[in-house]
Order: sequence, then structure tokens, then C-alpha cells
Amino acid sequence: MTSATSLFAPVETDLKLLTKNLRNLVGARHPILYAAAEHLFDAGGKRIRPAIVLLLSRATLPSQDITAKHRRLAEITEMIHTASLVHDDVVDEAEVRRGVPTVHSSFTNRVAVLAGDFLFAQSSWYLANLDNLTVVKLLSQVIMDLAEGEIQQGLNRFDAELSLEAYLEKSYFKTASLIANSAKAAGVLSDLPETACDQLYDYGRNLGLAFQIVDDILDFTSSDEVLGKPAGSDLKSGNLTAPVLYALEENPFLATLIEREFAESGDFDQALAMIHSSRGIERSRELAAQHARQALGCLQVLSPSESRQALLDLSEYVLRRLY
Ligand code: IPE
Ligand code: IPE
Ligand code: MG
Ligand code: MG
Repeated sequence: MTSATSLFAPVETDLKLLTKNLRNLVGARHPILYAAAEHLFDAGGKRIRPAIVLLLSRATLPSQDITAKHRRLAEITEMIHTASLVHDDVVDEAEVRRGVPTVHSSFTNRVAVLAGDFLFAQSSWYLANLDNLTVVKLLSQVIMDLAEGEIQQGLNRFDAELSLEAYLEKSYFKTASLIANSAKAAGVLSDLPETACDQLYDYGRNLGLAFQIVDDILDFTSSDEVLGKPAGSDLKSGNLTAPVLYALEENPFLATLIEREFAESGDFDQALAMIHSSRGIERSRELAAQHARQALGCLQVLSPSESRQALLDLSEYVLRRLY
């Protein structure tokens, strides 16, 4: 399987610099928070979001080097993402992330909440310092959306009547909004016309939705070792994702098991078996593929380049993670 890293060849040097800068940006003012953040920045994140920002920056500035603002945007994007993971792992009580113990399990919940807040606050500060009001609005909307997504997910736990539309809206808030708005912001920093910026937004939105649907499928089909985080935990915690929603259409008894929160012995295993024997996973793959295809179409707006090709390949990579 092609790794994400080899796809990112056109921006490999940029990504190395990004990792170094991220550590400097977070700074050493609070040693514990720094240790918490550093431990995540150093671990094996795929760096998909900053890579997209950097590839778009290169693709939209064919005749000049990317600017310091584009680089900073990529750093802010990864910082926001990492902050959301630190908080998400507290909410999900997850023990492992990027193959290493989560911040709250290495330190405490209190440190993890503070470290996440610290990263969000830092990202807002660096965002404001880009001195571009349009970009500030795009990325601060993302921070609101991330909170909205986690809240929606928290309130809808074990609700077997959840619609696919509500699931997709939550996925937009939690995942696609960051990719979409940071992609658009890269276009804004490159002074692209508004219609072109909107295409970049749609690329990010569709890629982000495909990415989240694939992540939700992998939660059923992959292992902790491969993912670097706990597999099989969405259903257990009542987070009903695409494979479950499709399986519910075929098997109404699954709703009973979910609504009683798997209280009786054997409930959970029975529910898993129902999902695996349904067309839920296959239909979720089709849904992810549909969004990945839509993402591809949006890149017509860019003229051909090595970076554009990498962005096209990325939509295939997202789907290939499944095989
Ligand atoms: C994890 O994102 C959260 C989801 C949106 C599923 P990634 O899978 O991109 O996480 P890292 O950054 O590579 O650890
Ligand atoms: C990840 O959410 C964090 C955000 C996208 C805000 P999930 O709970 O769905 O993903 P994992 O499985 O922990 O990475
Ligand atoms: Mg989680
Ligand atoms: Mg979560």
C-alpha cells in the first residue's frame, strides 16, 4: 500500500520544517503542557491536513515559492487537529493515539484538558497574526464546528433513529470542516478568485467526509496495531456510524440491542455479527467512494502540476486504506 508519506513527496521538506516549527510554536513556557503536546507532535500522525494545505499552496503558486503565511496556515491546521484529538481522547476514554499512550493516560485528564485548550488558544493567536480576516473567519468557524460535532455525537449516543444525514452533518463538523476550510484558506492566501476557493473548499469537504467514513469502517475491520488507536470502540460507546446505520435498515432487531445499550449478555457480539453480515460495510465503502470521486472533480480548477497530482492520488489513498 502506498503510504501517505510517499504521496507527500512534493512537500516532504515542507513537512519536516513544519514538525520542527510546531515544536517551537508551542514553546517551553509550560513544561508539562509542552511535554504533552510534544509527545503527540513527535508520534506518528499521518500529517494529512497540513500536507493538503502545503500541496494546495504549491499547486496554486506555480511560479513562486510558498510564503511564510502558507506555512503558518499548515502549522495552525495541524495544531487545531491535534488539540481536537487530545480532547476527543478524554471524551472517548481512549488509551492509545498515534501508537503512543494518550495525553490523559500518560498525564491526567486535567492536564489533557489544559493541553488541548492551550493548543486551541495558541492556534487562535497564530491565526490572528496571519492578518487576514477572511482566513481568521474560516478557521475560527472550524473550532466552533469541532465543538459542535463532539456535542452532537455525545448527545446522539445509542440513538438508533439517527439518520444518515445527521451522521454526515456530524462528520462534517468533526472532520470535513477543518480540511475544507483550511483548503479554502490556502486558496485565499494565494489570492485565487472566490469561485476557485469554493472549489478547494468542496475538495476538502468531500475528501474529509470520505476520510471519516473510511475511519468509521476501519473501526469495524481493522486492529489497534494497524490504526495506532483502539479499534472496535465506536459501537460500544454508542457512536453509530455509517456501517451501523445501513445495517439497521436491514435488521430492526439491531435497534433493540442498541437502545438497551447492549445491557444483556451477548448483545454486543450479536450486534457486531449483524453488522458484519449485513451490506453495511459495503454500502459505506460506496458512500466513501462517492465522496472521494466528488473530491477529484473539484481539482479541475487547478492547472496540472506534481502537487495537483498528489492531491488527486490522495483521494485514492483514502479509499485504499480499506484494503
Ligand atoms: C483522526 O485523524 C481523527 C479522524 C478524523 C478520524 P487522523 O487519522 O488524520 O489522525 P492522525 O493525525 O494521523 O493521528
Ligand atoms: C476524532 O474523532 C477527533 C475529531 C475528528 C474531532 P473520533 O473519535 O471519531 O476519531 P478517533 O477514532 O478517536 O480517531
Ligand atoms: Mg476518538
Ligand atoms: Mg470521539
